[in-house]
Amino acid sequence: MRGIILSGGLGTRLRPCTTVTSKQLLPVYNRPMIYYPLNTLISAGIKEILIIVAPEHSGDYLNLLGSGRQFGVKLTYEIQDEPRGLPEAFIIGENFIDEENVALILGDNIFSDDFSKEIKNFKQGARIFVKKVPDPERSGVVKFDENFKAEKIVEKPKEWLSDYAICGLYLYDKRVVEITKKLKPSARGELEIVDLHNWYLAKNELEVSLVKGEWIDAGTFDSLLKAQNLAKEKLQDQLII
Ligand code: TTP
Repeated sequence: MRGIILSGGLGTRLRPCTTVTSKQLLPVYNRPMIYYPLNTLISAGIKEILIIVAPEHSGDYLNLLGSGRQFGVKLTYEIQDEPRGLPEAFIIGENFIDEENVALILGDNIFSDDFSKEIKNFKQGARIFVKKVPDPERSGVVKFDENFKAEKIVEKPKEWLSDYAICGLYLYDKRVVEITKKLKPSARGELEIVDLHNWYLAKNELEVSLVKGEWIDAGTFDSLLKAQNLAKEKLQDQLII
């Protein structure tokens, strides 16, 4: 399994803190934000990790994380010229993914769970992770049938559909590259990850796991503050980097 951290984007909701730096380099308690998703991948046993960054911050990432040798992994870097959507990671990362399975994690998503088992056991199809949240309208959501099988997936639903939000960690088999190449940008001009999930769902190859511990998308000032507190109170013991 290869890992990709998607760490581009504009971070407009955190301006002016992101006016001159990347959101995922802002401090979350005692480490830059990207350390947390990087720790999640490394703790799960992933040794080859691609970090996708915006052009203006690429030097900062390289200076901060370097080759990855100090963490016992190999880091490589690619640039996303503009934020054209999460699935673009698989087009940018095509050569890196090669013929392997891939785990994508968002650079501003912070988890307390250990995903080693799911990542080691993953063979084919796609696996997404969900968590019950009070504000599902902020995320993609999954509606389940009575057997807890995914029935429907909708990005930021306007009308309530389910309380289960899709978290920023996703596992796919190598077909994800070819599927992404066939996606069309949505009305907002981006490739949409919900379209990938619906492709696997239609083939009956989408599995869903519950996140048992904490999950924070640290993209707003309030969620960033929550992430800081979580990092201080709970995450220090499990950080290996
Ligand atoms: P978002 O939080 O949706 O976008 P953003 O980081 O640009 O922030 P804002 O909405 O405040 O302007 O992105 C989620 C994560 O995915 C974040 O880590 C940035 C990353 N991302 C990319 O790297 N490239 C992309 O094309 C998109 C859409 C997101």
